[in-house]
Amino acid sequence: MIYKNILKPIFFKQDPEKIHESMTKIGSILGKFIVTRLLVSSILNYKHSSLTQTVDGITYQNPIGLAAGFDKDAHLTQILPSIGFGFEEIGSVTALPCKGNPKPRLWRLPKYKSLVVYYGLKNKGCEAIAQKLQNKKFDFPLGISIAKTNCKETVDIDTAIEDYYTSLVRLEPFADYITINISCPNAFGGQPFTSAELLDALLEKLDTFESNKPRYIKVSPDLSIDQVDDLISVSENHNIQGFIISNLLKKRENSGIPLEEFSKVGHGGLSGKPVQKHANKMISYVHKKTKGRFTIIGVGGVFTGKDAYAKIKAGASLIQLVTGLVYGGPTTIKRINQELVVLLEKDGFSNISEAVGSNHKK
Ligand SMILES: Cc1cc2nc3c(=O)[nH]c(=O)nc-3n(C[C@H](O)[C@H](O)[C@H](O)COP(=O)(O)O)c2cc1C
Repeated sequence: MIYKNILKPIFFKQDPEKIHESMTKIGSILGKFIVTRLLVSSILNYKHSSLTQTVDGITYQNPIGLAAGFDKDAHLTQILPSIGFGFEEIGSVTALPCKGNPKPRLWRLPKYKSLVVYYGLKNKGCEAIAQKLQNKKFDFPLGISIAKTNCKETVDIDTAIEDYYTSLVRLEPFADYITINISCPNAFGGQPFTSAELLDALLEKLDTFESNKPRYIKVSPDLSIDQVDDLISVSENHNIQGFIISNLLKKRENSGIPLEEFSKVGHGGLSGKPVQKHANKMISYVHKKTKGRFTIIGVGGVFTGKDAYAKIKAGASLIQLVTGLVYGGPTTIKRINQELVVLLEKDGFSNISEAVGSNHKK
């Protein structure tokens, strides 16, 4: 109530990137002290046995995670468990530090519960992030998303592959799982690894760094069915345990938003509600086609427990969000988890893992 009626109207009058930075600073300070962590936890944390599950050997207290992009440089790892998140994914991190695209590069479309994102993989680079994570303990599973440095040099495919490899080797020791982000809509050279041949070459190189930690590929909601089929068949031959579905929507004509509404915003991918139905459709397709062999983390337009549950029933084991937090505020995670418990009970499931892909079992 306080966030929606007082804070959000104030925040939404300010520059979105500045608010993002301020929230990150506040979160980082709150995470530093046990007293503030406990205080936040007493208000916002929520636990229920039906939400706890083990996925690819990792135990999650609840299925709701912070998606990549909100905490690019790992400032919030200490406070997010108190806010009620079951996990988080930092990054995307690239081999070299990157300032990202020129500002402004973040806009809101409140009428459509969406953000327009043109950050272009701004982050401190894998060396600085590795040093930040060193000697830290985490109260929840930590995913690390890696991408290729957003610069002209990585348009060359061999350089791009080396770039991913450098980040993988440097960051893998700190991660519970690794995400290979091949779907940033705002980087030099586009998304070359949506081609089967190039994805195969990338994964072959990454396979040479052996580890038993799960690796997931983050995909674009703009992919055609043929491209999704390629993604699955290439992944089947490599050390890949699943997919994160999906990243930002690039094709504005598929957003359901009248194109004239974009006149006040710049370039960039769309988050939130416009991603929802594309992500849900792809989750359903991949789960059904692979008969649940791949883990799916569902992302895109999750604002309520019902939104999260739709993705779970379609085949997602875990859920991530960013835009839901921006529009709903810090109580969002507790509310979604509470709503999920009610929905599970209503359908007669004693644990969330029983509901995964249940749409396809009828
Ligand atoms: C401000 C912002 C920055 C993002 N940066 C990244 C990123 O660096 N890497 C990535 O894989 N996804 C990034 N994303 C995409 C989100 O992780 C997510 O896939 C997408 O926003 C859809 O989820 P949502 O509707 O809950 O926001 C970003 C999204 C936002 C809103």
